[in-house]
Amino acid sequence: MAPLCRLRILLLLSLLSSFPWPAVSDPLCHPDDKRSLLQLKKALGDPYTIFTWSVAADCCSDWADVTYDAHTGRVVSVDISNSEAAGPLPEVIGDLPYLSQLTIRESPNVTGPLPPALAKLANLRMLWMDRNSLTGPIPAFLGRLAKLEYINLSFNKLSSAVPPAVGDLPRLGALILEMNQLTGTILESLGRLRNPVGIDIRLSGNRLTGPVPPSFGNLNISQIDLSRNQLTGDPSNQFEFDLSKAKFSANLGKLDLSHNRVYGKIPPEVAMLDGLMHFNVSYNSLCGKIPRGGGLKRLTKYEFFHNKCLCSTPLAPCK
Ligand SMILES: *[C@@H]1O[C@H](CO)[C@@H](O)[C@H](O)[C@H]1NC(C)=O
Ligand SMILES: *[C@@H]1O[C@H](CO)[C@@H](O)[C@H](O)[C@H]1NC(C)=O
Ligand SMILES: *[C@@H]1O[C@H](CO)[C@@H](O)[C@H](O)[C@H]1NC(C)=O
Ligand SMILES: *[C@@H]1O[C@H](CO)[C@@H](O)[C@H](O)[C@H]1NC(C)=O
Repeated sequence: MAPLCRLRILLLLSLLSSFPWPAVSDPLCHPDDKRSLLQLKKALGDPYTIFTWSVAADCCSDWADVTYDAHTGRVVSVDISNSEAAGPLPEVIGDLPYLSQLTIRESPNVTGPLPPALAKLANLRMLWMDRNSLTGPIPAFLGRLAKLEYINLSFNKLSSAVPPAVGDLPRLGALILEMNQLTGTILESLGRLRNPVGIDIRLSGNRLTGPVPPSFGNLNISQIDLSRNQLTGDPSNQFEFDLSKAKFSANLGKLDLSHNRVYGKIPPEVAMLDGLMHFNVSYNSLCGKIPRGGGLKRLTKYEFFHNKCLCSTPLAPCK
């Protein structure tokens, strides 16, 4: 419990006798935040998972999955997950001005677009909304939420192209958009993302096409997953990419390009990346000898099979 809340409760308890009953249930969190959260709960069909959000309860100490800043008494984090929450996200979600983490996960009946009111959440650092049924585009206004560090909208039904403005978010370290219905190309602007601890970009299982932009060669990538963009039906939805021309950061930990139209040779530098934990180029059009060394030594044929003419360990010897 936040220290300020405890203090307030002690105060309340000590003054209890002199207060009429309604004063005890006075919200200790900011009344505006309490009002917004109650409206949010109602709009989402009163999900049972947040039954503790009652008008009578002390929303500072008794509401589950809500976190307050001890100094300001303002709501900084909300989590509605694994819930029977239903319906589109209401505009009131933007009326939590101090919110830094918004988590609405694994609630399959949460539908509709990301509402424009989200643009008001100027303090948002983490937007975590995977495995709902969100539709519509990834809105360009996310590019104005300059404090965003983490975006996870995977396993929804989001469509259209990734807006270029996302590539300008100064602190973004993770862009997890796998398993949606996104179209368009991978943006040159994503190659501009700069984060001191490395970038995690996951775009697999969408309908993205075209070349991987050269700017990706300058990323400090800790993870990248561009696999399976064609599994959604149309075989033209694949990345065309000459792997011979790729530049990889020394920090690369994961590279999954499986099921695309990647051609050329595997550059010898890849065999020098000791931190490479996961590498998969299966189901592409690669050719030539597989370099040996670094993280590549650990791999099996299943990370290289179904290519045009790749050869050598762990595949058959080159002719
Ligand atoms: C979602 O809605 C359907 C249809 O109303 C219902 O059968 C299902 O139980 C709901 N799922 C959850 C997780 O609440
Ligand atoms: C994003 O959400 C997915 C899908 O549920 C989850 O499995 C994954 O751990 C999250 N990814 C990251 C990097 O946090
Ligand atoms: C790149 O990311 C790694 C972590 O993945 C970090 O240790 C390293 O300092 C970063 N390098 C640069 C130049 O930002
Ligand atoms: C690499 O991708 C192929 C094709 O999707 C898959 O069969 C294989 O299991 C993957 N390997 C690993 C280690 O994930």
